[in-house]
Amino acid sequence: MKTSEMAELIRGRRSIRSWLKKPVNEDMLLQAIELATWAPNGGNQQNWLFYVILNKNVINSIADAVQARANYFASLPEASQIGENLTRMLKRSDFFRNAPSIIAVATSPYKSPLDQILADRKKTDPKVQEMSRWRSVANTRIQSVSSAIAYLLLILHQMGLGAVWMTGPMQAKGDIEKIVNVPEGMDLVALIPVGYPAENPAPRERKPVKDVTHVIR
Ligand SMILES: Cc1cc2nc3c(=O)[nH]c(=O)nc-3n(C[C@H](O)[C@H](O)[C@H](O)COP(=O)(O)O)c2cc1C
Repeated sequence: MKTSEMAELIRGRRSIRSWLKKPVNEDMLLQAIELATWAPNGGNQQNWLFYVILNKNVINSIADAVQARANYFASLPEASQIGENLTRMLKRSDFFRNAPSIIAVATSPYKSPLDQILADRKKTDPKVQEMSRWRSVANTRIQSVSSAIAYLLLILHQMGLGAVWMTGPMQAKGDIEKIVNVPEGMDLVALIPVGYPAENPAPRERKPVKDVTHVIR
């Protein structure tokens, strides 16, 4: 593949939030996930678990749970401060209800012997406390699963499917975990509704590379 073809694929992907009623082939989704698992990840621990949800009732239950949490938030006195755009978004937090499928992504903790040793030592050693804090900001668990999700979105796009990476629904994390039976010790981190796109959104601008890059010569 030429770099120009790769660039076209990467630039052509958009977050898709509206889908055709056409169902998505299960094998296609499994193939996309299999390819996404080739993403780089901390210690090759592959601490991710994917739920391919094709059942309309389950999708509706998840959407109901997310909307119920959004409604609760909207009912709080503080919600009046968030502005019209956000209020409108809150009211349709369940927009993904119409997606023919959802890939929910869960992750288990990254197991590092270093962290285990540091966990005890940091109680008494300020330098170790600092090192632990720095390590926790560069959260390997989340970076690993994000790496797979980024691959997944690109693969789905290449397959002609439209998806959106969503962490907003995590305000109903516990409710969704119950619905899909996420095992003890795993945490849901994202929902990715997937289907054939019913929209063709304009590209969202990116900052120029010079504004986001420091070259140290
Ligand atoms: C970590 C993460 C969380 C996101 N959460 C949401 C979300 O909850 N709801 C939503 O509609 N889009 C969500 N998005 C999609 C972003 O809004 C979108 O990627 C961004 O605006 C750029 O647009 P593009 O993907 O079309 O290039 C999320 C993206 C990322 C990477």
